[in-house]
Amino acid sequence: MIPIARPFVGEEEIAAVAEVMQSGMLAQGEVVTKFEEEFAAYCGVGHGVAVNSGTAALHASLLALGIGPGDEVIVPSFTFIATATSVSMCGARPVMVDVEKSTYTIDPEAVRSQLCPETKAIIGVHLYGQPFDIDPVHEICEEKDLMLIEDCAQAHGATYHGKKVGGFGSVGCFSFYPTKNMTSGEGGMVTTDDEELASHIRRIINHGQSDKYLHTELGYNFRMTNLSAAIGRVQLNKLDRMNAERQANADYYTTNLKTPGITPPITRAGGTHVYHQYVIDVGEECPLSRDGLMAYLREKGIGSAVHYPMPVHRQPLYAGDGNRDSCPVSDRASQHVLSLPVHPGIGREECAYIAGIINGVR
Ligand SMILES: Cc1ncc(COP(=O)(O)O)c(C=O)c1O
Repeated sequence: MIPIARPFVGEEEIAAVAEVMQSGMLAQGEVVTKFEEEFAAYCGVGHGVAVNSGTAALHASLLALGIGPGDEVIVPSFTFIATATSVSMCGARPVMVDVEKSTYTIDPEAVRSQLCPETKAIIGVHLYGQPFDIDPVHEICEEKDLMLIEDCAQAHGATYHGKKVGGFGSVGCFSFYPTKNMTSGEGGMVTTDDEELASHIRRIINHGQSDKYLHTELGYNFRMTNLSAAIGRVQLNKLDRMNAERQANADYYTTNLKTPGITPPITRAGGTHVYHQYVIDVGEECPLSRDGLMAYLREKGIGSAVHYPMPVHRQPLYAGDGNRDSCPVSDRASQHVLSLPVHPGIGREECAYIAGIINGVR
């Protein structure tokens, strides 16, 4: 079976972990600090704060930005659940809005329609590895004095008008889960240019501690370990190469997929897509339905996946919370999108096999 995702790890990561094991300094320490500095430099921002998941990156950032009960935060409905639940974890309300038809990223017009006096922030998601349209969302934030949070969990190394994601908002929040463009096992990172905010996040992720055993606010244990950071540092070194392989695989599909009704991903001008996922739209003209195609691919030894089968505004968790917006684009997308294997663990041969199988669908 060609898997839909596989972490691209090898001897170098094993050696880096072994070195930490031998040092005896397994929890947070110098390796984490180095990883933070290197990741921040890679993103072109002043500070990186490493945490133990992408969710923790979002949660701690929102807390440090002062989001709490009575506040609303606008999030796209078509995303992984953690974009919204991190808002709920702060006692605030996530307000789900629809996404653009072409890229499935947050629709700036939909954002405008949901602004109210309680709105404090907007979380934009660089979905599937493609930056959302940052300029118009940023403009809304300036106009209405709102904070912008970038959910970069799927977009390590992607650029918008030549600049890496993670440096446009008050914070950028990354995930290093094993299926992501780079991994640290589990892990995450907050990027920011705001030194004070970085220090505040550092307190929140370490039990609200401002000095040894002095706790000035409620905090959590969201710390990254040296073991994770050791993997992350090696992966960061390989990130551009791994992204280039994803892009080459994606280009191959886009050039070679010819089945009626199948639309390859659309890349917005001015941005680069790092293809955390290569997502096709399986429309009505395709001889097979989306789910039919998925089953057919499985029969042929090809893993595929649906990101995401249920938009956030439809989730039972948020039933009855009076979501104000209807999200028809998200609803439609959840029925028609299909992710194909694009990770660097596969090459031209596998891509050609997969494209050939899809082109043979009758
Ligand atoms: C868009 C998005 N946001 C947040 C997260 C949460 O990251 P983690 O799984 O590391 O907590 C993910 C991870 O899947 C994600 O895809």
